[in-house]
Formats: sequence, structure tokens, C-alpha cells
Amino acid sequence: MHSVRKITDDLYFLGVDERRLHLFENIHPIARGVSYNSYLLMDEKTVLFDTADWAVCRQYLENIEYVLGDRSLDYLVVNHMEPDHAASLQQVLIAHPEVQVISTEKAFGYMNQFGYDIGERGITVTEGDTMSFGKHTIAFVLAPMVHWPEAMVSFDLTDGTLFAADAFGSFGALNGALFNDEVNFDRDWIDDARRYYTNIVGKYGPHVQLLLGKASGLPIKLICPLHGPVWRSEFGYILDKYNRWSSYTPETKGVLIVYGSMYGNTEAAAVELASQLIQGGLLNVKVFDVSSTHVSELIAYAFQYSHIVLASVTYNLGIYPPMHNFLMDMKALNLQKRTVAIMENGSWACVSGKLMQKELDEMKEMTILNEQMTILSSVNEANAGAIPAMAEALIDSVAATEI
Ligand code: FEO
Repeated sequence: MHSVRKITDDLYFLGVDERRLHLFENIHPIARGVSYNSYLLMDEKTVLFDTADWAVCRQYLENIEYVLGDRSLDYLVVNHMEPDHAASLQQVLIAHPEVQVISTEKAFGYMNQFGYDIGERGITVTEGDTMSFGKHTIAFVLAPMVHWPEAMVSFDLTDGTLFAADAFGSFGALNGALFNDEVNFDRDWIDDARRYYTNIVGKYGPHVQLLLGKASGLPIKLICPLHGPVWRSEFGYILDKYNRWSSYTPETKGVLIVYGSMYGNTEAAAVELASQLIQGGLLNVKVFDVSSTHVSELIAYAFQYSHIVLASVTYNLGIYPPMHNFLMDMKALNLQKRTVAIMENGSWACVSGKLMQKELDEMKEMTILNEQMTILSSVNEANAGAIPAMAEALIDSVAATEI
């Protein structure tokens, strides 16, 4: 059965929720599902903005036909051709051989690579081009690396709607809600929005900053992303989050403690540190086991918090593999501007601290606290004094942090 929502008098939401997929991009857990958003403008011409993932194609095509009724589909704007949005493109072309596809030169190249047969139906647009479809005039704004090189956003100059591609998206199925004011975003969505942004687009902060700069000059009244709620109010809230995330500025003054522990000794030191931080009045403290917490969660917290403690055993004369994986993700996603404290453990040839510091030194603007801790197998009288010293240094550093 069709399931659509009216956004304005002539703009419809055709998106479909995905609730069966466990791993987005076959990497990131999505326990709350995800929505693949698409929009149909019913002007003198009909204009579809992006399509949807193959998994929801049947429902999606039904939604298109329901809103079109007996009208033809004149144009399809492909803002972002990654398959979670473009996999149904071929089916739309088959159902509507009359449709003309509007996109960037790069996107048409990728469509060819993915095997979509656009033929003579392509209309290439670039920065600042506009097209009128009747009452509505749409401007096209390039948004390379938000999140692929071919990406663009489309801005409806007539009513201020920004079709934002992957920007301002979130994990999470909409479950019947559509607008940001129909959900409690700060309570129920922000964690998944942050996890989506930091893991999917986090690497490309400077490109997101460029797009935010372009968007700041636009009279935006609606933001229609390709995942998650449509924004029709509280633009300052989501723009501030995007500005922080894309400039690698922390949101929260506090400490994220991530430990990798084989037999519980490193864990005990990490938890004792957390206890001493909290007793010292620093309440924004999170503790996670790197072995049992998905790295996408850790990345989201690492973007959120101002301070990070990495506590790791030495393993095969290296960093504990899950901790190494976390560090590699931090580096790949360009995390920077954090203050980090290091705890290392090892029963012989304890080198994880030195190796973690080396990885951190290869990231940008990471401050490593002098107060480090070496645990030889277990915390004892000889090394326990390092914990209060590290707690004090962290409390002082957090207090001195301006965000
Ligand atoms: Fe939602 Fe980059 O695709």
C-alpha cells in the first residue's frame, strides 16, 4: 500500500523506512532502522528528487504512482547517486521512459559505472544552474564529498526548500513521523544523527563547511534530507550541530574512556579513573569496552566529547586489535582537536601506550596529556598513584576547555 506525506501544497514525501537491514553499508548497526527519503514536486512539470534503495523499491514505486496519478514523470533530479538512493533509479526509468534525468557530470559517470542506462535522457547541471518547472525554479549547488564526489544539493528558489542529499540526515526509521517537530529530536534522534554524520560524512568536514557556507546565504524554509526527519523549524539547532561536527569542535566538556581489557585489569583501572573523575565533580564521563561496543558508537562519542582516555593492553607486541581498529577509524574519519590520556598494560614488552601515542601523533591537533599510566599486569601499590594524577589532570584540562 502507498504511504506518502504532503509537505507543501505541491511537494510530497515518498520515502520508505527500512527496518530489516542490520548493517548500513554492511558496517554500521542500525537497530532503529533507516529511512530512504525521496520527494516529488507536482508543478506544471513533475519533478522527482532522488530515488531509494533497492530493498524498498516496490513500496517506493507504489508511492510514485499514487502521487503522480495519471500524470507523467517529467524529471528526476539525482542529487546523490550512491545506491542507497539510486538503486531504484533503473526501475523508475523503466516505469517512466519519458523521464529526463538531471544530475552532475560526475554522477552520470558513476551511473554508467553502476550500469544504469540513462541513454539520451541526461541533462547535466553544474554550480549555480537553474531550471524552471512552472511555479518553481530550482537552483543546483555542487556539494562534492558530502558525501561522494558527485553530490549536489538542489534549492527551490520559489519556496525555500533545500533538497540536502546526505547532509542533515540521520539513521532511524521515521515510523510515521516526518517533520522534526513531530519527534523529540534532542531526546530520541540526536545520537543516531551524530553517529550517522560522524561515520558516514565525518571524514569530509572541510567539504561540509563549504556547503554550510553556501547554505548560509540561502533563505531556507525547509530542509529535506535523504535520511531522517524533514526540518521545518529549529534550523539553528541542527546547523550548530553540523558546524561543530564538521569543524571537529566538541559538543560536550567531558571524558570518554574506552578500554581494551583481556582479563579485567585494564578495565578495573579505567573504571577507577571514571570513579575518581566523578568524585572530583566531573559528571560527564562515559566508559566503554572497546571489545563489546561497536566502533561506530565510539566514533560518535569521540566526536561529541572534548577528552578521551584510551586504555589498552599490549597484544602480539602491538595495540589490542579492537583498540587499534578504533584508532584507525578515528584517523580515517579525520578526528582532531581532542585531548587524550593514555593507559597501557602489558605483562611483558608493554608497548601499547607508545604505539597509541604514535597513532595519535599522526592525527591533527591532538593534545596528549603528560599524565600517562603503565600497568604491568594489574593495578598495585606501585602504579595506583597514576590514577588520581590522571584524574586531576583531566579535571583541570576539562575545566580549562572552551567549546
Ligand atoms: Fe545516503 Fe551517501 O548515501
